[in-house]
Amino acid sequence: MKSAKHIFLIGFSGSGKSTLGRILASRLGLMFVDLDSVIEKNLDRTIAEIFDGSGEATFRCYEKKHLEAVLRSRQRLVIALGGGAFESAAIRTMAYRHGTTVYLSCSQRELNRRLRPVGDRPLLRVNCRRGESRTQTRERRIRSLLKKRLANYRSADLIVSTTGKSPKKSAGELIQLLRKIA
Ligand code: S3P
Repeated sequence: MKSAKHIFLIGFSGSGKSTLGRILASRLGLMFVDLDSVIEKNLDRTIAEIFDGSGEATFRCYEKKHLEAVLRSRQRLVIALGGGAFESAAIRTMAYRHGTTVYLSCSQRELNRRLRPVGDRPLLRVNCRRGESRTQTRERRIRSLLKKRLANYRSADLIVSTTGKSPKKSAGELIQLLRKIA
């Protein structure tokens, strides 16, 4: 039965995957796995170091390889994928096959706000256009990545909005939805 398998959290950086994932896992008595952290731990490099040293394409290969390894677990898991992981058809197929996929949606305005203080996300590091502030550049980048990724995010089994809500509240809503499809 699909709902008895892993729970995959997908969505843009800042949408709440890790915070909500931990709450969800603890409330369901499951283990929480953050795919980015697994990669960093196994390779002993930060995500930014991997992007800088080996490039995005290599990082995407690591995402696939490490997710395959995580999925060998016999335990039921809550798995937070990186914000770009669902762009990979192979990763989408793995996630659909191995559990319930949940898109944590968040308005662009709130993502802009949540991501403002964070400087270590390689994909948000882009050059400013002439006359553009750093904030405007980051907002433009978030807008264009979201536009590109939205269709895949929306193909998830469930969608939970985290806009204007505490992670605890969003986790509660997700638990209700998961119960409905169980
Ligand atoms: C990425 C998001 C990051 C991380 C990497 C690439 C993306 O994860 O996987 O920097 O492509 O949007 P978070 O969504 O946890 O920030």
